[in-house]
Amino acid sequence: MKLAEKLIQYHTLTKAEYIELLDECENPEICKRLSDEAVRLRKKYYGDKVYTRGLIEFTNYCKNNCYYCGIRCGNQNARRYRMSREEILDCCENGYGLGFRTFVLQGGEDPFYTDEMVAGIVREIKTKYPDCALTLSIGEKSCESYRLFKEAGADRYLLRHETADEAHYRKLHPENMSLSNRKRCLYDLKKLGYQVGAGFMVGSPGQTNETLAEDLLFLAELQPQMVGIGPFIPHHDTQFAKEKAGSVEQTLFLLSVVRILLPKVLLPATTALGTIDPRGREKGLLAGANVVMPNLSPVKNRKQYDLYDNKICTGEEAAECRGCLARRVGSVGYRLVQERGDAV
Ligand code: 5AD
Ligand code: FES
Repeated sequence: MKLAEKLIQYHTLTKAEYIELLDECENPEICKRLSDEAVRLRKKYYGDKVYTRGLIEFTNYCKNNCYYCGIRCGNQNARRYRMSREEILDCCENGYGLGFRTFVLQGGEDPFYTDEMVAGIVREIKTKYPDCALTLSIGEKSCESYRLFKEAGADRYLLRHETADEAHYRKLHPENMSLSNRKRCLYDLKKLGYQVGAGFMVGSPGQTNETLAEDLLFLAELQPQMVGIGPFIPHHDTQFAKEKAGSVEQTLFLLSVVRILLPKVLLPATTALGTIDPRGREKGLLAGANVVMPNLSPVKNRKQYDLYDNKICTGEEAAECRGCLARRVGSVGYRLVQERGDAV
């Protein structure tokens, strides 16, 4: 309990202390103390509001081959799709009508969409919906590309660092990718004035409390406005098919720790968390999360954006996630709001 109190008081710990704290992630008293404080902080800054982001997964082509991911380029079994500019704009129109005021354009790293095309789509969305925030999540690019997107009107960028530990990074990614370039991207994005989101999977193969401590130290250094944390879930067409998924408890523990480390952070209760536990997203909100990111992509494409097995919200029943989520959010005492939801 000593370290939990220290984290609560100082919002930071040393690497050795983080490791020791993470070793306690199954201690119910410590979990409770941390989640109580996380909820207190999220209420102090965001009240009972939960922000919603309309996620548009516009391409599942990807030039990268991250070993854990179902849409990695080496997966010959993935059925690939790309959405046209018109289809993307249709998603926004539908989403705007449903009450979304942030759109997230997410995709694999797909060279089909040139920088000029992306900038054009961003410009068009921002012109049509000037009261909405636009988030990009399209991977590692040059500083110049990021500048072009920013000038076109993009407000935010999501790029999980995945792991801040060099050796662990190597276990999850092929030779042609590097942690240093990932970090370079995140710092470029910050410098350009984006609201930036980093993050990592919980329970990825080879992860230890030591590598997780590196993740927390990296977040403290980067000071991102958003942090995406979800459990690793094996995908059947990857080398990690037989690995076990990350745990709900450890994910919730980390959500609380990150809320305390970065009290004003925008922290989603992720789809992956909702996938390993039917009430996962609700539990995430109760651990300190304050954002949900339902899918706005056409139902026909949802199953194909197949990062991991058994992803929720991909069937016909999910044509309208927003209503479903509004009920879920309400069930744990929070309120889904129709706002951009910028960092305070
Ligand atoms: N399990 C959980 N999350 C995954 N991601 C990719 N593959 C998996 C998986 N098998 C996450 C990565 C990526 C985000 C878009 O999805 O962290 O950044
Ligand atoms: Fe997508 Fe419930 S949130 S169906």
